[in-house]
Amino acid sequence: MTEHSQDQTPEPEVGGATAGDHVRIFDTTLRDGEQAPGFSMDNDQKRRVALSLAELGVDVIEAGFPAASRGDFRSVKTIAEEVRGPVICGLARCRDADIDAVAEATAKAERRRIHVFIGTSPIHRRDKLEMTEDAVVEAAVAGVRRARAACDDVEFSCEDAFRTEPDYLCRVVEAVIEAGATTINLPDTVGYAVPDDVRRIFAQVMGRVPNADRAVFSTHCHNDLGLAVANSLAAVEAGARQVECAVNGIGERAGNCATEEVIMALATRADHFAIQTRANTRKIYPTSRLLASVTGHTVQRNKAIVGENAFAHEAGIHQAGVIKNAETYEIMRPEDVGVPRNQIVLGKHSGRHAFAQRAEMLLGHAMTREELDRAFANFKALADRKKVITDSDVESLVMGHEMGA
Ligand code: KIV
Ligand code: ZN
Repeated sequence: MTEHSQDQTPEPEVGGATAGDHVRIFDTTLRDGEQAPGFSMDNDQKRRVALSLAELGVDVIEAGFPAASRGDFRSVKTIAEEVRGPVICGLARCRDADIDAVAEATAKAERRRIHVFIGTSPIHRRDKLEMTEDAVVEAAVAGVRRARAACDDVEFSCEDAFRTEPDYLCRVVEAVIEAGATTINLPDTVGYAVPDDVRRIFAQVMGRVPNADRAVFSTHCHNDLGLAVANSLAAVEAGARQVECAVNGIGERAGNCATEEVIMALATRADHFAIQTRANTRKIYPTSRLLASVTGHTVQRNKAIVGENAFAHEAGIHQAGVIKNAETYEIMRPEDVGVPRNQIVLGKHSGRHAFAQRAEMLLGHAMTREELDRAFANFKALADRKKVITDSDVESLVMGHEMGA
C-alpha cells in the first residue's frame, strides 16, 4: 500500500513487449490539464508544478504543446532544461512545424519524447480533418517518421480511438509502429467508453496488430461520464502499461483521469492488479495542493484521495471506530498520500467519545462525568445551529459557557 512495498510487486501476466515491470505514469497536468478553461499557468508556475511532479516520481511529464503558443514553447523548454528524472514530452499534430517545435523545445532534456497525434474516428476524419482514411494513415506515418528522425522515443495517439472502427484502428496502429512509434496511446477523447469497451478494444488491438509487441500501450481517458479512472484501470487489466492522467483530475470539460486516484487505486488494490506504479505516494498531497494554489482552483471537499473530507470523520459511529482502529473506516493511511493525519471533525453527527477526547486534549485533563454530561449536551445544542465546531467553541463549552444555548 505504501511506496515501500511497490517495487516488490511480481511481474504481470500480459503478453508481448508491453509486459513491463510497472505501470508508467504519464502526467499531462501541464498539457491536457492546462487546456481546461481557467487553468492556464505561467512559465514559473508550470516549472514549479513540473518539479513537484518529478518528486512525485511520475515517469513522463507532458509539459505542453509547443506549437500552440510562444508561452507554451517557452514552458516546455524551461522544464526540459531544469527538471531531471522524468521523460519530458511535448505534443504535436502530424505537421512538420509542430514536430520540429517539440524537438527544439525539448532539446536540452535529460530524456525526451515527441507525442504525435491525429484524429482517427469517422467524425474526426470527415468533419474536422476532411481527410480520407488513406490520407490519415499517410499523415500519421509521416509524422511518426519525422519525430523518429529527431528522437528515439515517439508516442502516437489515435485521437477518438473509441469511436474509431476497430479494423481501421488496427491498420493505423500497425502502420505507425512500423514507422517507429514506441508508445501507442488509445485515448477516449470524449469520455464515451465504459470499462468493458476499454478492455475489449485494448485486447483486440494488442491481439490483432502483428507488431504490437514492439510498443508500450497507453490509456488516456476523459471523465465526461465520471468513468475516467475506472476506464484507465480497465485498460491496465487489458495490458496497457502507461496511464495518462492529470493531478486533481483537471482537463478539458469534465477533466482527465486523476493521477492521485489511479496511483492509489493500483496501490491500495495491489491484491487485484499485481502491478504498480513507481510513484512516491507521499508526494501526492503536496503536489495536489501546489496545483490548487497556482491555478486558484481548490478541489471539491469530497474529492477522492486529496479532498478535505477524504480522511475526515464526523459521524459518531465512524469516529468511535477510527479512534480505536483507523482501518475500521479508512482503506488508506493519510500519511501514505502525504496528508499529515486524519481528522475527527466535530459536528451534530459526532458522538460523546470524540467530543470527550477533543475536550480532554484541549483541557489537558479528564472531566468528571457531570462536567462531561453538561458540556456534551451544550455541544449538541450548538452543533444543531452551527456547521463547524471549532476548538475554541469546545474550549468555551468545557469551561462551562453555554454559548447562548
Ligand atoms: O484526449 C485526447 O485525445 C488527447 C490527445 C491529444 C492525446 O488529449
Ligand atoms: Zn485528452
